[in-house]
Amino acid sequence: MRRPAVRPLALVALAGALVSTGAAAPPTTAAAPPKVPVAAGYGGAVASVDADASAVGIAVLRSGGNAVDAAVATAAALGVTEPYSAGVGGGGYLVYYDAKSRRVHTIDGRETAPASATATLFQENGVPIPFEEGQTSGRSVGVPGTPATWTSALDAWGSRPLRQLLKPAEELARDGFTVDATFRSQTELNQARFKDFPDTAKLFLPGGALPVVGSTFKNPDLAATYAELGRKGTGALYRGPIAEDIVRAVRTPPVDPAASRKVRSGDLTTRDLRAYETKRQAPTQVSYRGLDVYSMAPSSSGGTTVGEALNILEGTDLGSLSEAQYLHRFIEASRISFADRGRWVGDPAAVDVPTRQLLSQRYADSRACLISPDRALTSPLAPGDPRRPQPCATTGRAAPTTYEGENTTHLTVADRWGNVVSYTLTIESTGGSAITVPGRGFLLNNELTDFSFAPAAPGVPDPNLPGPGKRPRSSMSPTIVLDDGRPVLAVGSPGGATIITTVLQTLIGHLDRGLPLVDAIAAPRASQRNQTTTELEPGLWNSPVRAELEALGQGFRQNPEIGAATGVQRLPDGRWLAAAETSRRGGGSAMVVRPYGRP
Ligand code: GLY
Repeated sequence: MRRPAVRPLALVALAGALVSTGAAAPPTTAAAPPKVPVAAGYGGAVASVDADASAVGIAVLRSGGNAVDAAVATAAALGVTEPYSAGVGGGGYLVYYDAKSRRVHTIDGRETAPASATATLFQENGVPIPFEEGQTSGRSVGVPGTPATWTSALDAWGSRPLRQLLKPAEELARDGFTVDATFRSQTELNQARFKDFPDTAKLFLPGGALPVVGSTFKNPDLAATYAELGRKGTGALYRGPIAEDIVRAVRTPPVDPAASRKVRSGDLTTRDLRAYETKRQAPTQVSYRGLDVYSMAPSSSGGTTVGEALNILEGTDLGSLSEAQYLHRFIEASRISFADRGRWVGDPAAVDVPTRQLLSQRYADSRACLISPDRALTSPLAPGDPRRPQPCATTGRAAPTTYEGENTTHLTVADRWGNVVSYTLTIESTGGSAITVPGRGFLLNNELTDFSFAPAAPGVPDPNLPGPGKRPRSSMSPTIVLDDGRPVLAVGSPGGATIITTVLQTLIGHLDRGLPLVDAIAAPRASQRNQTTTELEPGLWNSPVRAELEALGQGFRQNPEIGAATGVQRLPDGRWLAAAETSRRGGGSAMVVRPYGRP
């Protein structure tokens, strides 16, 4: 989203640094990489929201690094240029296709609640605290999973040391990047709460004011943190001085004594940080139009919910339908699968999640028969029981979908060997908890607000209540699609619970409606999440199709912008295509190592 002030030294010198000793090269002021939403060619591809981050990934690929190396380096750069969406203070989910074995693997790097957490973490005197108060608090901070994700991925599949892969991001943090309108507006959105935390204000409100568009934004503290993690490994965030600083910031939030805001502390301990582990687990898998769609299993609800919706849609020829009927089916499949998500999906380490049954075609068929071509369902819709599928049955009691913030970021990488990474990472809200770890240059997440503060409806089981060491349910849906064991497509998006509908809409837009990937990403979005109204972006709100859908009983409300997807595609001629947003969040950045031909 921002153009770099100067090309960072390590980015330009990366090829040499990666293959030799990492020795310094002379400073450079090479031009900023251009920001384009689609590119095609050979040697590998990177798509992210940010041109500088994509360029870091491309430099890694060009120097002989693989997709996992590039994904880690790109993610670290996003921690600099997208500090309100991602960083070492947060967590995420990484899905990896390994070309040699033709298998898909995943890493669950979700944040975890403290060991002391109970179901009433966000309640006082039996009453949920206001959501906004939970957002800006130590209470909402989970143990970060992002640093451990990088190490887990590199240990398993990487080919370059972490130290070298963090170097470009370290230099980007030290040398700075040029502030653009999106960075300024995201800072403005947070201005009131950032002001209440002196360390956050010092970093993100330089001189007490919003960063000026066109100015250079530097984060030397983050550069030092990356340097330390590079030297010592990411374990340095989980034990030792950085861990102690994190725990102190959570337990005694560094609030301006003059602030009127009530900032609750959290109960994170150094033991919680030391105990953190990523999880390697089987991906979700469904067959759709003869392809295999892989994504993230719980603790994310992304894979099961996108997968169930695809299974529901499998029996309908979406390509032959009118625009209104196509959108109607998409909305209804989303509504049904969200009803099941709410009832059944949480952290499988803490609750019994029927993942396999939610993904069965038999169950989806039993739910698909609820859809009528000429009348919309009403929400909240009751869930079914995937363990005992009954045709057209809604067995449980309906509950509304709980609120989730809409931030996060996604990157997608492919390399020359055919390995692919689809990686979504977050600090939850735009600006996370607003708590910057003093002297460390990164914001702490407020991921625990993804838990239900109270059961979604009285008397209805809620699998997403807080618990000790539990992972809050996510919607992140990093997805990889295979055709006969080879990757054809990978996509993902930020956007809280709208991630699921964005990934679903992008997949069916491309696979069923025949849209080129960049157009499927750019298409105006709708998001139905078992709520009385479906959110519409302006492109659909202002379209005649809205009236056609309203005639079917669909209800709508506006959402100015939903998601910010990126993806890669293997073209039939063997080239990689990278695709990103044309305009959302200021447009994304698609790059390939050796551009060739028309995208
Ligand atoms: N915090 C966004 C998600 O986990 O879905």
